[in-house]
Amino acid sequence: MNEGKNNYEDRLKEFKENGYIIQRGIYSDDDFEELFIAFYDLALSSAKRNSIFIDFDYFPSLNKASYPEDLKILDKLLLMILKENKSFIGEIYDAFSYSSAFLRFVSNRKVEEISKILLGVEKNTTLYGWTNRVRIDPPGDNRRTYGWHQEIFYTQPRFTYLQTWAPVLRDTTFENGTIWIKEGSHKEGIAKQTWNEIEGRATQVLIDKEILNKYKSKNLKMKKGDVLFFNGFLAHSSGNNITSDEIRYSLVGMWNDTSTLDFRAPIPNFTSRTESAKEYFIKKFGKSRINKIKN
Ligand SMILES: [Fe+2]
Repeated sequence: MNEGKNNYEDRLKEFKENGYIIQRGIYSDDDFEELFIAFYDLALSSAKRNSIFIDFDYFPSLNKASYPEDLKILDKLLLMILKENKSFIGEIYDAFSYSSAFLRFVSNRKVEEISKILLGVEKNTTLYGWTNRVRIDPPGDNRRTYGWHQEIFYTQPRFTYLQTWAPVLRDTTFENGTIWIKEGSHKEGIAKQTWNEIEGRATQVLIDKEILNKYKSKNLKMKKGDVLFFNGFLAHSSGNNITSDEIRYSLVGMWNDTSTLDFRAPIPNFTSRTESAKEYFIKKFGKSRINKIKN
């Protein structure tokens, strides 16, 4: 692979052959610092909101926390919150996903430019993303790790899309569970698979073993700043985080081509963690002020 090269046309050949490319040096430590601060801030607010004791002799205040020096401290803080209640981490994750810092990060122009080349769309085509997230994978938590799959049955199956994956805040290694791919497996198109609903775990739509055996597994160890771009049909799987105290932060992204006939914008569906506006209205003013008016 010519990972350091900037000649995207060259990379297109490689992408078509292998089903993926890794582009180096897309994100800088300045980009990561912004994300670090957002995570640290959201974690401190969560601790405060949920009455979790923070020892400020150990945990620096928000304006004293610095990246990358305090990354282990962010891990500790998140693991402490996770131990208290897993759903608190889910809430941090949801808040982070729509934070201005993350939206800036995920809308990186280089990523957009390369995505369009690899998708083979015009440079003015609008890309649509809504499942872009930074995953937080703590040690020894496999509830949301996925076996060998294609994305098609985890997303809008009729869309045309390109996937991205990138280490965030720290390198991703075998130990912290970096992504696995099957080189060249995109050539299968939609591979034969089974849909498994497993109690207490995320649904697993898994590719048949005979198909997987045809391709070489690759564990893609990646450096901060690298971005993996891969074909929507490429078989991939999560790794397990077998470290004792290191969180794996990773960007999982998907850019959909809005110009295809099959693209139909999904309906956004946000649900409150507390009460709806109407429920709050009733608490404030009582039901008597709810009018039902017929035309
Ligand atoms: Fe996936």
